[in-house]
Amino acid sequence: LTRERYPVTRLPFSVVSEEDLAAFERIVPGRVITDPEVLEASNVDWLRTVRGCSKVLLRPRTSQEVAHILRYCHERNLAVNPQGGNTGMVGGSVPVFDEIILSTALMNKVISFHSVSGTLVCQAGCILEELSRYVEERGFIMPLDLGAKGSCHIGGNVATNAGGLRFLRYGSLHGTVLGLEVVLADGTVLNCLSSLRKDNTGYDLKQLFIGSEGTLGVITAVSIQCPPKPRAVNVAFLGCPGFAEVLQTFSTCKGLLGEILSAYEFMDAECMWLVTRHLRLASPVQESPFYVLIETSGSRAGHDAEKLSDFLDQVLSSGLVTDGTVATDQMKLKALWALRERISEALSRDGYVYKYDLSLPTERLYDLVPDLRARLGSRAKHVVGYGHLGDGNLHLNVTSEAFSPSLLDALEPYVYEWTAGQRGSVSAEHGLGFKKRGVLGYSKPPEALRLMQQLKALLDPKGILNPYKTLPAQA
Ligand code: FAD
Ligand code: MLT
Ligand code: ZN
Repeated sequence: LTRERYPVTRLPFSVVSEEDLAAFERIVPGRVITDPEVLEASNVDWLRTVRGCSKVLLRPRTSQEVAHILRYCHERNLAVNPQGGNTGMVGGSVPVFDEIILSTALMNKVISFHSVSGTLVCQAGCILEELSRYVEERGFIMPLDLGAKGSCHIGGNVATNAGGLRFLRYGSLHGTVLGLEVVLADGTVLNCLSSLRKDNTGYDLKQLFIGSEGTLGVITAVSIQCPPKPRAVNVAFLGCPGFAEVLQTFSTCKGLLGEILSAYEFMDAECMWLVTRHLRLASPVQESPFYVLIETSGSRAGHDAEKLSDFLDQVLSSGLVTDGTVATDQMKLKALWALRERISEALSRDGYVYKYDLSLPTERLYDLVPDLRARLGSRAKHVVGYGHLGDGNLHLNVTSEAFSPSLLDALEPYVYEWTAGQRGSVSAEHGLGFKKRGVLGYSKPPEALRLMQQLKALLDPKGILNPYKTLPAQA
């Protein structure tokens, strides 16, 4: 699949030998996986659109083991693909050829948690949902949440700079990550695992690794700021008659719910069709062209309910919203969130998925969707728009029965040119990985690309870390 759709040539790295396997066995005894059946799952991405052919998967438990592995690979010129939960959307998490897969699955220990500051320090392989449970038991929440929470690792989240469903309230990982421990390509352990909120001593090196998609170093531990668990959470799921009303509802929402607003997500009618049809979820509201999910998080239930009720009165009476439902209890709250969170799963069941993750001016967020429907006609099964409207992030997805090169040609570079025309970003939160590394130039100037290449060369002179990912192939 890989080579057919994305022409790329293997770089002259060494090939793993019997001696290498023996050396790895000494570094991580009993955790050198060569069984093809186990390797199969780690060679294919979540979307099942890219596939590598790695012959070995390593499962270190400590940073020191990661350091030994990388020192060895650096010496031997062996390429390495860091892997967390393998839920990435851009093919960055799986090898392109025979890169060694370095999994963080066994690096899943909490190192410390401080209940006054809310600072969590943990190993990179902790699963996001397990961390959420851990901090919630202590009166806090993780500052990020995403549909992949049951599988993704915190190290993978940091490596992709994942946005997700709480971004509107708690912001980017560039703000909530306080420190990182990273193993560099040559095996050097860079301990920047600070827990300080403020620290202006020199360059903030950890920022370089947030969103670097495994190309600059392997993140082995994370220090992250957790907000207190809100006492009152409400979710409203509403139907809107048009996208203009979705936007006006957002403005009204910011005005009336302001400080308690914690999410503003949207999905179109085709998304609802997909989740009801493929996942058998039930829609809680009348059929509408658009749906919005609004979450509030605050400290006083009565206060929040009153505010929400005023807001709902206003949007219903003005016709911005035609139908809606509100949840406060955990079960219903989860059911409403599932309608939004599980869209990507429903899309995968619909056929081959062409995925675009764009940052656009909020006013024009949906324009490209009807435009593409007209452009693609019956060649596409579905053209859908959903996403983190509150953050100006559209998920534009197109499905077809099977992969079609002509459909891809109709989509690209059109989608990227359109986005660049709006001065948008061709990757709002998923990163570039393997699939999108060629389109970085639509959102960044040549000078920025050059500096990125120089940073890569400085930190990973042999280019062994996640080759073929993030940065365009050099001329
Ligand atoms: P992987 O997929 O294993 O890896 C992702 C990238 O990070 C790869 O390039 C890999 O090499 C690198 N990497 C992984 N671990 C490390 C490490 N320890 N050190 C260095 N590099 C590493 N993303 C969003 O931003 N917002 C969303 O709302 C969102 N929702 C999602 C919903 C679903 C159902 C799915 C399947 C994915 C979603 N994603 C979302 C994509 C998102 O990128 C990932 O879910 C998550 O952040 C990746 O974590 P992971 O542990 O699975 O990493
Ligand atoms: C989401 O917001 O649902 C995720 O980013 C996944 C996707 O875009 O499909
Ligand atoms: Zn998203």
